[in-house]
Amino acid sequence: MDFPTLRSRLLAWYDDARRDLPWRTPRGQAPDPYRVWLSEVMLQQTRVETVRPYYARWLERFPTVDALAAAPLDDVLKAWEGLGYYSRARNFHRAVQEVASRHGGRVPGEPDAFRALPGVGRYTAGAVMSIAFGREEPVVDGNVRRVFARWTDDPAPAEDALWPMAAALVPGERPGDVNQAVMELGATVCTPRSPRCGECPVRGLCAAYAAGTQNERPAPKKARPLPHEDTAVPVIHRGGEVLLVRRPVRARLGGMWGFPQAIRHPGESASAAAERAAAEGLDLAVRAGAPVASVDHTFTHVRATYHAVRCTVVWGEPRAVRYDEVAWVPWERIGGYALPVAQKRIAALAALHPTGPHPLA
Ligand code: ADE
Repeated sequence: MDFPTLRSRLLAWYDDARRDLPWRTPRGQAPDPYRVWLSEVMLQQTRVETVRPYYARWLERFPTVDALAAAPLDDVLKAWEGLGYYSRARNFHRAVQEVASRHGGRVPGEPDAFRALPGVGRYTAGAVMSIAFGREEPVVDGNVRRVFARWTDDPAPAEDALWPMAAALVPGERPGDVNQAVMELGATVCTPRSPRCGECPVRGLCAAYAAGTQNERPAPKKARPLPHEDTAVPVIHRGGEVLLVRRPVRARLGGMWGFPQAIRHPGESASAAAERAAAEGLDLAVRAGAPVASVDHTFTHVRATYHAVRCTVVWGEPRAVRYDEVAWVPWERIGGYALPVAQKRIAALAALHPTGPHPLA
């Protein structure tokens, strides 16, 4: 590959065509590493337009490393609510706390020191080191992978080939802008479907464009069918309140609030599984009543169907046997708790008729 030509064309194109995004500083102005880092964490697996309002609200609440480091995890997860992949927020919070306690509140500009922070992988390190500190560190994300696959006309580029290629492209002036230019090209021109090759500054160096194979590069990865979990969710009422639990930090959706739940056993009814969820998870005897709704959600590694069932307490007080905390919450206060998307939908559906269409004794 002719890296010097790719570089100079990319930079010229980027200066002209780059999107005006809130985390980008005007040329010549020093970026705030905390903001760059935040934006790169939020942008993982998440679209720019989704990130924008979260980014703005986040900086109002946690404008600096010290402000975020001092915030309780509950507030941090509440600010992340709806963005998904909540381990990003937990790790970012922990990492920023380390920056505050061990690095005097300054994001380390040394790649090794930065990589040692919780949740900081190769991509985040490359992005933050190059964009915020001008270091010649490579990045590879989904956009970069597709762009490189087309430049080299490779249907299935190996991870081991992509990183050296990114590392060959980055050295020279403005490494952060070179990295962002490739990602930007992938996001706006070299798109997965119907790439706009007519607008591409480097089509003259693109092997797929020359061969007319850009639409087949890279070849789609074989989608493996995801395992499915059928999960019962007791919505437990008492007076005007409903029972919420906080999930253990190490679990999926760790630290988030929600309803108790249990994966259904083969042949087990949703009602029986909901009663078992309360017995096993809370040491609480409940009686299942009317179904509320079934809600589907797809995670990275699993597809879940939540069968929400109204329940009333038969005896006992809930104990956080399988959870970190339990709380009786008035319906109108649920909004103050950080709930994952599917749990929020269940709460909204259940709140339409807080005592259920068939009030139980
Ligand atoms: N995707 C993730 N980070 C990006 C950045 N800094 N510029 C363009 N696209 C991106």
